[in-house]
Amino acid sequence: MNDYIKFRKEIVEMNVKNRVILVTGAGSGIGEGIAKKLAQNGAKIVINDVNIEKAEKVAREINEKGQVAIGLKADITKTDEVQVMVDEIMARYGKIDGLVNNTGVVRDNLILNMPEEDFDFVMDINLKGAWICSKAVLGHMKEAEYGRIINISSRAWLGQVGQSNYSASKGGLVSLTRSLALEFAKYNITVNCIAPGLIDTPLIRSLPQKVQDNLIKAQPTPLIGEPEDIANSVLFFSAEEARYVTGQVLHVDGGKSLGARNI
Ligand SMILES: NC(=O)c1ccc[n+]([C@@H]2O[C@H](COP(=O)([O-])OP(=O)(O)OC[C@H]3O[C@@H](n4cnc5c(N)ncnc54)[C@H](O)[C@@H]3O)[C@@H](O)[C@H]2O)c1
Repeated sequence: MNDYIKFRKEIVEMNVKNRVILVTGAGSGIGEGIAKKLAQNGAKIVINDVNIEKAEKVAREINEKGQVAIGLKADITKTDEVQVMVDEIMARYGKIDGLVNNTGVVRDNLILNMPEEDFDFVMDINLKGAWICSKAVLGHMKEAEYGRIINISSRAWLGQVGQSNYSASKGGLVSLTRSLALEFAKYNITVNCIAPGLIDTPLIRSLPQKVQDNLIKAQPTPLIGEPEDIANSVLFFSAEEARYVTGQVLHVDGGKSLGARNI
């Protein structure tokens, strides 16, 4: 614990300056918002996506503001591709301080209509992908005695009709978070989880307007969240100042996890 961060006396800021942070699936939506927020705060961001054009576009937009980011292609379900990506980060920066396991997909259906391959597809990307990426960086973090891992789960981990695959994958991420937090706490590595509710991304905007309206109406806070709402929470968990918070799940969902609004 020789690198245990000492509190500063001046105004507390969420410090991620010069921290090298890998954000997976950051070519769009919430991941893009997370990458931009962390870069604004001085972190050096690696934008991963299976779609390299999207990753490079986000990296370019960050660079144009004088901040630091690179785009790297890897399918997070492929151990060898993730290893190449992590080796490249280590060669360039010599460290990996943070990992945001953001990548996630949906293949919704009632279980009786859900093909088995849709269960495997969602579990592979949402849960196994996060496990593969965590495994690839944790050795380096352990050696450095510093690390921050943030897993992007979903409010749906509490259960959702038509999402037996997605919900199970996101519940699995909560359990993964807790297990890794226990395994690595003694190395000054924290592992936390954020469970977003309805967030304004291409994924949500592709739903019929009536479905969007009904989803918003069912929430205690009748608003759709922005990627920045999630990014602000990621900034907190990524910061040096969050050193004593590990294994936690933070719902950023306008209160949806409390249950339906009573109207
Ligand atoms: N949007 C919401 O309302 C909402 C709510 C709760 C949780 N979430 C979670 O937030 C995360 C981000 O969601 P989003 O709405 O921004 O999604 P999105 O579809 O906008 O972005 C996901 C990105 O992941 C990339 N990707 C897909 N498969 C990949 C793979 N195998 N390897 C690397 N990259 C891959 C895609 O190319 C895409 O750029 C997901 O984990 C999602 O489950 C979203």
